[in-house]
Parts: sequence; C-alpha cells; structure tokens
Amino acid sequence: MKKLMVANWKMNKNVKECSDFFEAFNAKYTQQRDAWIAPQSIHLNLVKSLGEKKGILAGAQTASEHISGAYTGEISPRSLKELGAHFVILGHSERRQYFKETSKLLNAKIRTAIQEGLTVIYCVGETLSERESGKTLSIIEDQLHQGLNDLSKLNVQNFVVAYEPVWAIGTGKTATPKEAQEVHAFIRKVLSGKFPAFGNQTRILYGGSVKPDNVEELLAQKDIDGALVGGASLKAQDFLALCKDK
Ligand code: PGA
Repeated sequence: MKKLMVANWKMNKNVKECSDFFEAFNAKYTQQRDAWIAPQSIHLNLVKSLGEKKGILAGAQTASEHISGAYTGEISPRSLKELGAHFVILGHSERRQYFKETSKLLNAKIRTAIQEGLTVIYCVGETLSERESGKTLSIIEDQLHQGLNDLSKLNVQNFVVAYEPVWAIGTGKTATPKEAQEVHAFIRKVLSGKFPAFGNQTRILYGGSVKPDNVEELLAQKDIDGALVGGASLKAQDFLALCKDK
C-alpha cells in the first residue's frame, strides 16, 4: 500500500493561501504517496475542488458527535460529507487538551462519523510527563480501548490511527524512529486483538514535527505507514517533498 501523508492545516490559511498552495502543489505532485489535506472546515469545498484532479482528498479536523440539533457552533459530520470531506481527524491532542475531548466522547464522535460515511483518523499519544513516568503504553492502550469501544462498523478502508506524542507536536522534537516504532508495533498489536479481521492492516501514521529531513527514517520503520503533518504541511514545497518516494 502507498504511504499516506495527511496535512493538518489547523487554524491556518485563508482562501487565497489555499489556492496558492494548490497551484504550487499540483504542478509537481506525482501521486507516489497518497496526499490528504485537512483545512479549516469552512474551506473544505474549496480544497476538495482544488485537489480533485490530482486525487487529493479533503477532510475535517473535528466533527460533532451529533448529526443535527441545538448544538450552537458545532459542525455535523453529515454537513462535512456534503461539503466534500472524505475523512475527519478525531482526538487530536489539541482537541483533547484545549477542548476537553475525552476518549469516551471521541468514541461517540467516531461512531457518528463512520455512520455518515467518513473515514476516521483517530489520534492517540502521551504527554511528556506520562512518557517520563513510564506510562506511554498504558495511556495509548487506554485511549484505544475507550475510543474504539464497541465499534462494529470500522474496517480497513474507513479507519486510520495516528500516533502523535504530545511532546513532539509543534516543538521541533521528534520521537526517534525506534521510539516511534515501539509504540506503532504496540498499537498494531492492540488493534489486531480488538479487530481480528483487519486490525493488522490498519494504516498507522506517525505525527509530531515530521519534516522532509526526518520523514524517511520514520517511514523506514516496519509499522509506520505514513505521517500526520502540521507545520511542514503548510508550505507546498515541504509537503511535496514529504509526498515523494525517495
Ligand atoms: P507538527 O503537528 O507537525 O507541527 O508537529 C503535527 C500535528 O499536530 O498533527
């Protein structure tokens, strides 16, 4: 399977910046690796149409656990789908930290998103103090068990996991390939136990300060199937470099 590179643009880029990005990106993108882009939801339709002819898929950075109703300010996964979203990122550490999203809430969000036909990228990861106190694997296991509790509709097509150590996000610090591989292998083991039919083949992305100069050693690891990229995905040339096989 091709490596999957997902751009998480977070709360960045206006309309013109989205267009400028695609002008530069489309000119050189050769589809060696799959490229997915998550802009601010308000730009989903634009990003979908700009990327379409190059096979680039658009997605959202979060979604409501509800389909409709009195939830002021929230965005329904059904509306995201209608706007052209193929996928939604759920459980990003910024959502967990600043918006108090728990794995239990994320379980409800995953359920609704899958029902509405979106592919879910479920993020897990430990904080620095959790790593330093030796709790990394138990935290990850907990996030997987709670977030993925009782979800019979997941399959290899509609489900991706991203391992993002919180201490590596936006900090310039990356997990070493060995540290990342250890957690990825563990995630694969947990997924295989939970979902015998497909757990073993689930795509597991690494995220946290991924850049053109550190991506290859990460992707060389057996259980790293791609990357979820913040900062380095904002520049077309950097994201292009990440989307090219070496
Ligand atoms: P970063 O962000 O690449 O800027 O560290 C990754 C992410 O938050 O998904």
